[in-house]
Amino acid sequence: MRIAIGADHGGFEQKQAMVAYLRDDLGCEVEDMGCDSAESVDYPDYAAPVAHAVADGRADFGVLICGTGIGMAIAADKVAGIRASSITTPAFAELFRQHNNGNVVCLSGRFVDLAVNKEIVKTFLETPFEGGRHEGRVAKIAALQE
Ligand code: RB5
Repeated sequence: MRIAIGADHGGFEQKQAMVAYLRDDLGCEVEDMGCDSAESVDYPDYAAPVAHAVADGRADFGVLICGTGIGMAIAADKVAGIRASSITTPAFAELFRQHNNGNVVCLSGRFVDLAVNKEIVKTFLETPFEGGRHEGRVAKIAALQE
C-alpha cells in the first residue's frame, strides 16, 4: 500500500515515528512529503502535496499530522476527490472508512498520544469502505465540488 504522509511543526515528531511504523510494522511504501524539522511552517503547504498525491492516484491513502489535525483536514479537503477528517479515536477511524470512504486521515500531534495515533492509522488502513447505502451519500459529497 502506498502512503503519502506530511506534517507541520506540530506533527513533525510524531510523523518521524509514523513513517517508521508504516514502513517497518505495516509494510507500506511511504512517501514523506515533509516537513523536515520542528521549525515553524504553514500546514497548508504540507496538506496540499499529500492531498494531490492521493487525488492523482500516486498514493492510496494520505496521513497528515499537525497540532490538532484540524487545519490539515480543512486544507486537504479542499482538493477535489479528497475526503479528509481530523480523527482522534480508532472507532472514528473505522467509521471514517466504513461510512465516508475517507482517504486522508488527519491526526493531532499535540493532543493525542503516538500509540493511539498508530492504532488510528492501522485501523484506517485496514478497514474497507462498506459501500451500499453509503455509496450514494459519498457521491453527493463529490457532487458538491462540481
Ligand atoms: C500550529 O501552531 C497549529 O496551528 C497547527 O499545527 C494546527 O494545529 C492547525 O490546525
